[in-house]
Amino acid sequence: MSVVKINAITPAEGAEERLEARFGDRVREVEGMEGFEGFELLRPVKGETRYYVYTRWRSEEDFERWVNSDAFKRGHAQSNGGDPVATHATLLAFEVVEWPVQQALDERTMA
Ligand code: HEM
Repeated sequence: MSVVKINAITPAEGAEERLEARFGDRVREVEGMEGFEGFELLRPVKGETRYYVYTRWRSEEDFERWVNSDAFKRGHAQSNGGDPVATHATLLAFEVVEWPVQQALDERTMA
């Protein structure tokens, strides 16, 4: 069963553009991790002021392996280098109950 992990980031005051720029400049190693199924950076528009870093994984174990990897450290080198763009981050976790897009793709491949 796939899992969704969302890192909800509170941007430092006026640091939204810099936060987005850091993601634009990110190392892109997460894409190569085993069990990685997707990533999105979501900018808040209504009802939320935090940025959501949405990630989806084949399993909890795959996510844990990435979080404990050197790729994760390298993926956060800019944020760990001082000059923070965030004041707070909270990890939200979900299990994927339904995933219609993937189901439709699977059915098409099998047909
Ligand atoms: C204190 C906690 C965290 C903060 C403040 C933070 C912030 C950031 C920032 C600013 C970047 C841009 C790249 C860089 O800084 O070098 C980044 C990269 C990223 N973050 Fe986080 N992050 C945190 C933890 C997490 C966690 C727990 C997840 C899991 C959902 C996550 C998911 C990602 C992903 C997927 C990338 C792109 C990595 C790549 O390109 O390989 N982050 N994060």
